Amino acid sequence: MSRATGATAEGHHSIPRTKDPSLRRSLALFRAFLHEQQDPEHCYTLLARDAADQVEAYGSVKGRTVLDIGGGGGYFTEEFRRRGAYSYLFEPDAGELGKQPPEGTVLADGYLLPVADAVADVAFSSNVLEHVDDPATFLSEMVRVTKPGGLIYVSFTNWYSPWGGHEWAPWHYFGAERARKRYERRAAKPAKHRLGENLHAIHIGATLRHVRARTDVEIVSARSRYWPFLAGAITKVPGLREFATWNLLLILRRCP
Ligand SMILES: C[S@@+](CC[C@H](N)C(=O)[O-])C[C@H]1O[C@@H](n2cnc3c(N)ncnc32)[C@H](O)[C@@H]1O
Repeated sequence: MSRATGATAEGHHSIPRTKDPSLRRSLALFRAFLHEQQDPEHCYTLLARDAADQVEAYGSVKGRTVLDIGGGGGYFTEEFRRRGAYSYLFEPDAGELGKQPPEGTVLADGYLLPVADAVADVAFSSNVLEHVDDPATFLSEMVRVTKPGGLIYVSFTNWYSPWGGHEWAPWHYFGAERARKRYERRAAKPAKHRLGENLHAIHIGATLRHVRARTDVEIVSARSRYWPFLAGAITKVPGLREFATWNLLLILRRCP
């Protein structure tokens, strides 16, 4: 049994199940996120289980093929496997993988996945879109690998979200470079992210307009990933949605 599997299974049993959306669930996720540095195992186990629940709201993944694109440490892949899916991790950065990545992990870029067209029942990417400089091409590749009728799960933190600047948030509101330098001064270590390199300013309105204009997908759901209430309504209000959504979750269906 891999390290990730064993540890995640342990966490899996100790984490209480919560309803989505609900205040309890949002608070549990927020607390786990606050302690992400001290206890990443708990944080990502919880997040993976939550995301798998969101996917399974549209049908069980048992026996289905789920591609986890930019899946980092493999928590999501492991969670989908635990639910009986044939799940595979595609991650371009070896440094993001854990010590024992899920078996069959492929070092690959999401722009050019080494898989045939229409193999996936679910193409899944959690918090990756803000890290690519060409989100439309990244999405196109997700669509290409998805079967007609299959689901595409995409979530990302937009730039004007209070967490838009990642480790240097919320100071990104005063300028990315200033915020990054401030972080480096205070933390006395280099920041992980740099705007324009591995973090990009992506917006909710523009992303929604882009997916609405596509003819190869339909939008099944567009909502805040973590909010306990008005999760769908928030994303409909131009301006406000850029600040209040925090993280946009798009569930798309590939058109036949
Ligand atoms: C914030 S992490 C998210 C990891 C995991 N999906 C999660 O939700 O915890 C961003 C991930 O995106 C990956 N990434 C960046 N550019 C990518 C690309 N072009 N294709 C696929 N993954 C990419 C990074 O290597 C990193 O693992």
